[in-house]
Amino acid sequence: MDHFLYRDGILMAEDVALADIAASVGTPVYVYSTATLRRHYTVFAEALAGMDHLICYAMKALSNQAVLKLLGDMGAGMDVVSGGEYARALAAGIPGERIVFSGVGKTRDEMARALQGGVRQFNVESEPELEALDRVARQMDTVAPITLRVNPDVDAGTHEKIATGRRQDKFGIPIARAPQVYAKAARMPGLRVVGIDVHIGSQLTDLAPFEAAYAKVAELTRLLRSQGHAIDRLDLGGGLGIPYVQDNAAPPLPSDYGAMIRRTLGDLGCQIEIEPGRLIAGNAGVLVASVIYLKQGEDRDFLILDAAMNDLIRPSMYGAHHDIVPLVQPAPGVDRAAVDIVGPVCESGDTFARARPMPPLGEGDLVAFRSAGAYGAVMASEYNSRPLIPEVLVDRDQFAVIRARPTIDEMIERDTIPAWL
Ligand code: LLP
Repeated sequence: MDHFLYRDGILMAEDVALADIAASVGTPVYVYSTATLRRHYTVFAEALAGMDHLICYAMKALSNQAVLKLLGDMGAGMDVVSGGEYARALAAGIPGERIVFSGVGKTRDEMARALQGGVRQFNVESEPELEALDRVARQMDTVAPITLRVNPDVDAGTHEKIATGRRQDKFGIPIARAPQVYAKAARMPGLRVVGIDVHIGSQLTDLAPFEAAYAKVAELTRLLRSQGHAIDRLDLGGGLGIPYVQDNAAPPLPSDYGAMIRRTLGDLGCQIEIEPGRLIAGNAGVLVASVIYLKQGEDRDFLILDAAMNDLIRPSMYGAHHDIVPLVQPAPGVDRAAVDIVGPVCESGDTFARARPMPPLGEGDLVAFRSAGAYGAVMASEYNSRPLIPEVLVDRDQFAVIRARPTIDEMIERDTIPAWL
């Protein structure tokens, strides 16, 4: 459920008409709903209520400072995957003890900065990383809390590019090797083992792969404990999917997911960490765009928007579907015609939807891409020298620009011409 609904035929973000935001800030623009972000966080908290847990929001999904502050104030921790994300979390006021550091390629510099600023744990993904972290921690005369991310060889049944828990994926340590690597970690004076980490992929629409992976983690917990390791914490990753098409068979709810966690791991007495990103941010955001032209082609019509693949890459990168709806609700029974919905970028990959049935729309009309809060703004680029687009946060009847649209001059001024030219 989200808070982008038609009221009297006008698409609202909570109590603000999206058209008012478009008029004030211009298009394209990302708009987020505070109530939806809060609701999604709360739904997870309720799903895990009664278990010792921490929800570490995977900020890669949407990392604007305002969003981090909003979630941090509710008690969220953060899952970070780079020095940049770590710094963003600290800047938003998240204490180090609520920040978990994930990622296959942490540099020594990133490790040192997190040890300096405080970190709940590093989720270590390889033996070379284990050795590097041990060395960095010892040099700093400290001890780094770690889990090992295990690769359970489970197929998440999601898009090829976002499946992370199969043996051929670059992530984690093969689960069969885990006992050896834990033994090695236990011998390193710069490290303190605190638990196990697993993350098998994103946009999962079925609980079965989660359950298969978590059952393996439960088994590993028992084995490692019998070998003398203190496994007090289980980081179960993120990945729960969201409905991208309204009225479609919905993915499992966080409450189902929570019940499954309880069933599979509840008797171990571990603290549970989860790292949801998409489920918190995805349906809490829309991308508002204007129609530039309706172009009649040889065998199809093209609705050309002012948003493009550089603003929202998911359709061209993953073939992802986003519902695209007019800001003015079409009259009931109005004829819809199939159009290709595209942006102005100079490649055919800049296509948001093919043969999408749409009500009549023309120059200047406004549309919203739904479910664009996660992996939208954060994956944007300036391709075709299109400046990044602004972000707006709505809270009931108020809204604020939480990232301004850079000017074209600002974009150009970041370049420097060498003196020899
Ligand atoms: N934890 C780890 C270690 C991750 O790698 C990810 C996502 C998450 C948590 C959060 O997963 P979520 O709950 O959001 O599914 N750009 C792609 C999605 C990439 C996901 C990468 N890792 C997309 O637009 O679909």
